[in-house]
Amino acid sequence: MTSLMDTNIIDPGLFPAEHGPPHALFDHWREHDPVHWNPANPAYTGSMPESSGVKSFWVLTRYKDVQDVSMNQELFSSHEGGHRGLESRRRGSRKTAGELHMMRPAEHSAVKKVIMPPFMPKALAAIAPEIDRLAADIVSSVVDKGECEFVFDVASRLPIYTFCELMGIPEHLRDQVAEYGNALADVESRTEHSLNPMIGLFGLAQELAEEKRRNPDDRLLSVMVNDTTLNLDPMQINQFMLVFAMAGHETTRSTAAHFIYLMHQHPDQYAILRSDFEAHIENAIDEVLRYTSTTTNFTRTAMADTEIGGYPVKKGDNIYLSYAAANRDPAVFEDPHRFDITRANAKRHLAFGIGPHVCTGARLAKMQLRALLKQVVTRMPDIRPVGEPEWLRSIWFNAIIRMPVTF
Ligand code: HEM
Repeated sequence: MTSLMDTNIIDPGLFPAEHGPPHALFDHWREHDPVHWNPANPAYTGSMPESSGVKSFWVLTRYKDVQDVSMNQELFSSHEGGHRGLESRRRGSRKTAGELHMMRPAEHSAVKKVIMPPFMPKALAAIAPEIDRLAADIVSSVVDKGECEFVFDVASRLPIYTFCELMGIPEHLRDQVAEYGNALADVESRTEHSLNPMIGLFGLAQELAEEKRRNPDDRLLSVMVNDTTLNLDPMQINQFMLVFAMAGHETTRSTAAHFIYLMHQHPDQYAILRSDFEAHIENAIDEVLRYTSTTTNFTRTAMADTEIGGYPVKKGDNIYLSYAAANRDPAVFEDPHRFDITRANAKRHLAFGIGPHVCTGARLAKMQLRALLKQVVTRMPDIRPVGEPEWLRSIWFNAIIRMPVTF
């Protein structure tokens, strides 16, 4: 029998078996070996070509270590060796400036300056009524049926439509983008089917970019296409579309599904939420983000010999930032495995990361979740999963991919 110390985090069966991140394992490592050396797992190749042959790496399970490394981009790089979750890391591939999360610091801040305005509170307030309307429409489309499959019929539609709204993608193309987005979000099985969603999305990006050159507007795609300081080439525009279509989709839809699942598992917490939705929803969303950590990790590479939390680390070593473990660190969250929507410090979670690469869409994600959950909780208050939901087989996302519900 494999002991906890010998368990390899790159075991694709680990998360589904645990219905999420392996918290008993993380607790053990945090207590006995908080900067843990995880050996390569040659048996794991992943279903994406770039994920095969992963190296050994350090796994950080303490909140403070994950935070310190995330804040220090010069010493712990996301461009050298990649910042992605391990299963989608590209080995030796050229990084394009379109891959926001893998840019060098100076380039990263220049690009962020251009793309951030639509994600700031004022711009988000302007699209809030449209997001509320979309959330209401989505729930209207199922509310009289008494049953549906929550992930695809409800949760996945808002992130895609919101992404279209933000980018300036016209309404008649949204279902097409939703189809590509859903296919792209299935990280593990994508290449088993085909590369078509990516090619399709790139084709669409080019068509739209051409249109935005001819008829500029104030939406993100137009801003990027027409910005003379960035001078993005077509491939970079494609990459941007891809990053945003993926980054904002799987994560937000999974958090909505986890929310409903957890409320069903914890009727006392659901009763608190329903007693005063407006008073509790913000904190409840943060607690669900903390508790589930849907993006369970990203990685960094040490740029020099150094130390993390007193453990020596060598130049070139890979580092796995476990947001899932950090979010259950008892040094920060009292009784961390308790799900408590009134938890005073729930919003300190690291589910969106922290530091220079902190999630661009964090505010937007919360806004969407709030709009959608308000519709669900008020119009389908007795919603409940039928049987056990299906979890994504993944070493990166803690994702529910199928959850039939009745209401
Ligand atoms: C519940 C929903 C979401 C979760 C849990 C989530 C989580 C994360 C995490 C953990 C990171 C990496 C942080 C780091 O490495 O330090 C990240 C980065 C990013 N996210 Fe999100 N995300 C969510 C929604 C969104 C949305 C809605 C968008 C946009 C529409 C978005 C766009 C991005 C982008 C562009 C980055 C790269 C930022 C950079 O490198 O500067 N995310 N997200």
